[in-house]
Amino acid sequence: MGDRVLLIGAAGLVGRHVRAALGERDVVATFHSDPIEGGVALDITDAAAVRACIAETAPDTIVFAAAEPYVEACESDPSGTWRVNVEGPAIARLAVPDANLVVFSSEYVFDGARGPYCETDPVSPINVYGMQKVALEELAASAPRHLVLRISGVFGQEARRRNFVWQLVDRLRAGKTFDVPSDQVITPTDAASLATAVVELIDRGASGTFHAAGPEIMGRVEFARLIARAFGLDEGLIVPRPTVELGLTAKRPASAGLSDAKLRDTLGHGLRTPTDTLVDLAR
Ligand SMILES: NC(=O)c1ccc[n+]([C@@H]2O[C@H](COP(=O)([O-])OP(=O)(O)OC[C@H]3O[C@@H](n4cnc5c(N)ncnc54)[C@H](OP(=O)(O)O)[C@@H]3O)[C@@H](O)[C@H]2O)c1
Repeated sequence: MGDRVLLIGAAGLVGRHVRAALGERDVVATFHSDPIEGGVALDITDAAAVRACIAETAPDTIVFAAAEPYVEACESDPSGTWRVNVEGPAIARLAVPDANLVVFSSEYVFDGARGPYCETDPVSPINVYGMQKVALEELAASAPRHLVLRISGVFGQEARRRNFVWQLVDRLRAGKTFDVPSDQVITPTDAASLATAVVELIDRGASGTFHAAGPEIMGRVEFARLIARAFGLDEGLIVPRPTVELGLTAKRPASAGLSDAKLRDTLGHGLRTPTDTLVDLAR
């Protein structure tokens, strides 16, 4: 690579890991409400600020990790979250049309009727978040150089302990039960090896859509039990429940799951297995 990377949203789960994977490269990293060392404050809904940031940094690559990733928030506030999830990246895309635009999408672009999915399967979102991701993918595809990375169930070190693993660990450690959807399939994705793969794909000049997901597709309950076992916690506190009972507004794709075959073919390897990562996290 060698050229400047603008990493937008470097304080989030994915953003922090990508920042670490970029190492000593020439990186300008932005944050929103959670300051990071050496970072630049940027609200991606502030079009003038986004344009000014891009004019100052003149990036060769923009990695867009900032988003409103909460599916329920998108369902309840479609227009407010559209400004973050689609308009923000659109402003960046137009401000530097020749840059390589790297965005993160999701298995929620699919309806979950017939997973697991590969990159060539047609998209068919069933909730607002999924529709926004389809719009983001189309936006990225309009850039001459772009990468769309569909990811799922990302977990790893996270100071804010917001991802599924830490939420579950913290509940079970406190002796509390944890409701887990019994009818959803995910592809647990190790944040650190995801970030390394993102940098490898950029370095190789890869373009197009990749399922940058872990090597194993499993039910959420199975993943929850894997976490409990790795951390030596009581699996009996995990309560499998059908999604309809969880009071969620947005529909969830049931049989989703992302095949990582293209990623493996391109890189010659996949991401870390959930078990390997969980063992490290539990140390
Ligand atoms: N995590 C997953 O399992 C998963 C699965 C599929 C797809 N994805 C996608 O992966 C990407 C990264 O997700 P993540 O898990 O890293 O989410 P995250 O931890 O919530 O990080 C998102 C970041 O976006 C920032 N942000 C939100 N609104 C902003 C605004 N107006 N201006 C600037 N920054 C803003 C947040 O900053 P503040 O908190 O300071 O506002 C936060 O640091 C997203 O596109 C998400 O949809 C994630």
